[in-house]
Amino acid sequence: MAGIKIDGKEIAQSVKDRVKAAVDELKAQNINPCLATVLVGDNPASATYVRNKHKACEEVGIATKDHKLASDITQSQLNEIVDSLNKDSTVHGILVQLPLPDQLNEFETTSRISPLKDVDGLTPYNAGLLAMKKAALVACTPSGVMEMFDYHNINLQGKNVVLINRSNLVGKPLYHLLLERNATVITCHSKTKNLEELCRSADIVITAVGDRNRFTLTPDMIKEGAIVIDVAISRHNEKLVGDCDYDQIIQKASFATPVPGGVGPMTVAMLLKNTITAASLTSQLGQ
Ligand code: GUN
Repeated sequence: MAGIKIDGKEIAQSVKDRVKAAVDELKAQNINPCLATVLVGDNPASATYVRNKHKACEEVGIATKDHKLASDITQSQLNEIVDSLNKDSTVHGILVQLPLPDQLNEFETTSRISPLKDVDGLTPYNAGLLAMKKAALVACTPSGVMEMFDYHNINLQGKNVVLINRSNLVGKPLYHLLLERNATVITCHSKTKNLEELCRSADIVITAVGDRNRFTLTPDMIKEGAIVIDVAISRHNEKLVGDCDYDQIIQKASFATPVPGGVGPMTVAMLLKNTITAASLTSQLGQ
């Protein structure tokens, strides 16, 4: 029997409904939540992501500031923009869209963002808080995945999770969130041996490779009734695809996420949630 679709659009909408109510409450206290985005260069995928983020903000009543910068901007010019957004009391969240052009350093840029406005959870301060179970602002894709588990009342305690990604935006924060829920997590990467075997042993496979030429998660690589979360999105044969074919994997999995319409919408919804968290944090601190 086919498994259950984890519908990212539906779950994202439930998050957005809650965010909208929180935005209304903040506005009643004269706080007008605002997200500033910084997009450097003309990467079309990044431009689409940023556009979608603005659209979602508008849907729930979050104001936006849009900084589009030339691809040849210098690190010190970018630093100045981040500094000015840090100081701007009308801005509650700052998102620098990644990846950045080669001449710019991602760590230098993202770690310059005020931790209170760090809606990506990428600053060393917020990443450290997450590792210590004290995080207020957590990277959006990982917290979106957790929201999906919660929506379907999936208990993670004691589950063997194979996580195929070790990035600062996805794999590392997810590792901590899963561990907090008492899952046993194996974090895999390009040098991992016996990846297929590890996947077959897992109760839950979370995959975020994003390159079908390097990796495809096929049904023979999961156990019957496993849960599959496909975080990847890439273009393959003119189609947007994840790391697996949803129609095939759902025949064997108990739950799986489609691509598109799975984790993607959750990333955007959690960004909205982080923006209102950031707005309430700064207002509590009287800033
Ligand atoms: N690029 C791809 N995903 C993300 C994300 O969640 N945040 C930022 N800042 N850049 C990204």
